[in-house]
Amino acid sequence: MSTIESVLNETRIFPPSDEFSSQANVSSFQAYQALCAEAEQDYQHFWAKRAKERILWHKPFTQILDDRNAPFYKWFADGELNVSYNCLDRHLATQADKVAIIFESDDGEVIRSTYRDLHQRVCQLANALKARNIKKGDRVVIYMPMRIEAVVAMQACARIGAIHSVVFGGFSAKSLHERIHDAGAVAIITADEQVRGGKHHPLKATVDEAMRMSDTTSVQSIVVYQRTGGEIPFNPPRDVWWHEITQNAGSECEPEWVDAEHPLFTLYTSGSTGKPKGVQHSSAGYLLGAIVSMQWIFDYKPTDIFWCTADVGWITGHSYVTYGPLAMGATQVIFEGIPTYPHAGRFWEIIQKHQVTTFYTAPTAIRSLIKLGGDLPAQYDLSSLRLLGSVGEPINPEAWMWFYEKVGRSRCPIVDTWWQTETGCHMIAPTPGAVALKPGSCTFPLPGIFAAIVDEAGHEVENGKGGFLVIKKPFPSQIRTLWGDPERFKKAYFPEDTGHGKYYLAGDSAYRDKDGYFWIMGRIDDVLNVSGHRLGTMEIESALVAHPLVAEAAVVGKPHEIKGEAVIAFVVLKGKYPHGEEVARITDTLRDWVAKEIGPIAKPDEIRFGENLPKTRSGKIMRRLLRTLAKGEEITQDISTLENPAILEQLKYPSK
Ligand code: PRX
Repeated sequence: MSTIESVLNETRIFPPSDEFSSQANVSSFQAYQALCAEAEQDYQHFWAKRAKERILWHKPFTQILDDRNAPFYKWFADGELNVSYNCLDRHLATQADKVAIIFESDDGEVIRSTYRDLHQRVCQLANALKARNIKKGDRVVIYMPMRIEAVVAMQACARIGAIHSVVFGGFSAKSLHERIHDAGAVAIITADEQVRGGKHHPLKATVDEAMRMSDTTSVQSIVVYQRTGGEIPFNPPRDVWWHEITQNAGSECEPEWVDAEHPLFTLYTSGSTGKPKGVQHSSAGYLLGAIVSMQWIFDYKPTDIFWCTADVGWITGHSYVTYGPLAMGATQVIFEGIPTYPHAGRFWEIIQKHQVTTFYTAPTAIRSLIKLGGDLPAQYDLSSLRLLGSVGEPINPEAWMWFYEKVGRSRCPIVDTWWQTETGCHMIAPTPGAVALKPGSCTFPLPGIFAAIVDEAGHEVENGKGGFLVIKKPFPSQIRTLWGDPERFKKAYFPEDTGHGKYYLAGDSAYRDKDGYFWIMGRIDDVLNVSGHRLGTMEIESALVAHPLVAEAAVVGKPHEIKGEAVIAFVVLKGKYPHGEEVARITDTLRDWVAKEIGPIAKPDEIRFGENLPKTRSGKIMRRLLRTLAKGEEITQDISTLENPAILEQLKYPSK
């Protein structure tokens, strides 16, 4: 974890090498500043110019930004395009035989798919979906393993104008059900099972469990990709096999031309209430963000072999697996498995084997790989690498240095990219040929992104002072609304106080150092970041109190060496305060319960039982005290408003 102390003491600085800068898309700090100045002068035309140059339009746009109904901004609204056409068809004339995806399965099998092949697969599935009456604007939930087919499913939806909503394969039936229901999905695309680390995990059976929960009557079709051939429940005519419906489907599918603002997808993420938010993205603005960030931040070159390790269940997998690399015509690696199977050098082996040039991963993966074998990278030839990237949480300077020295051999810049599900693409990140790096800082905003740090009244604070991270001007790739909940969208992201309803409030605290570098300090809301995954404390609390044994629960985060943050739950049982072996038994029961309710990523690392929780006289749980207790620190805060101080003693240590 980045603590304020560790990053405040950080003075190392790494300017780009001449070798890197001389080939870079943005090749000097002056070049970066010139782009920023161009955006400063007229940010709307700055974006319009790039949208014209880099997107293939079916009908060109004449309007740029429509802010009449702010904060429901529209970009390029009268233009028409198709995102799948921009990712696939555009390459057919020039590089149909270029490999688009090098896929490596969990057990090491390699499958290569060219742009021609990928285009054909996408068209076939798109035709098959159309034949099942899935139309423009319909919602399709995708619950798939990390394979080429996941990308095909997303692209096929984009091709016919259906709105996909990918649910990470690690989420439980209950979470899946909530998302299917909220989206009003008409179809689900899934697989029989997924394979990770040599183990099979059910997908179709989980879909069926989700379908048995009430209110999922909207779903007419379930398309099942056969991954393992394992035995699964199959219920025709609702359920159909992917290979059967695509077998005779036409290999050409005229794209459905959609308005620039047509929703490309929704993706659910955690907020500060119990209910996940369906973040809705546009077609053109989102695509533009993916493209410019590939060019500026990943310094994309046609000779690159790009590898982003994120699952398509997260926004990183949307922007830097499914859309960004394909829009650029890149060759990318997709890996089905986990970094530690069958050995802890798997990532390095893949880089060596496929000659990866650009490697983008998460700090939590870096920290666990350090722990498993800090010297392992030295055993592999990693000389193909030219750029490294980090995403999802603050990277602590120690992990940064290891990544830089051991993986990048002190030759490769690291792009520490700050962004969110809601922003669609990188927001604050170094243009690697231009910006000198400081370990732990995401450095400067992308050209055209007006990031600032403000106080509670929305006034910018001076460098060195912490505050709320905001984006002051609209940008094309930003969230359009929350699916079905425009009021929550306004309240969560454009509150009246910080920025007077005009600034996008990111939900992070940050500060700028004396050189203007941005340093992200963490969330300002009740959202935890566990292994780079966003989890709402309220979601976990609601899951816990839904268990018959639990009367009350409060969840907080605590710094964790590998995961960044660990989940600590304080629980009051309905019955008696547990003792002895009861503690371990109930702890196991509740941890498994949370895994079933939300998914294994949300399992509390520790549960402490109490006869009560620390509350104010008005009954509000004092979470700041729980955070202190979780960290094992002495309470120095004012506890005069606390109704039941004796409870602190009981919650101080793990229950026995
Ligand atoms: O707190 C920030 C953290 O992750 C949050 C966004 O999470 P999510 O929407 O799941 O997207 C993750 C992948 C883009 C942010 O509000 N975060 C993300 N990247 C960084 C980061 N914190 C510090 N440094 C980063 N590079």
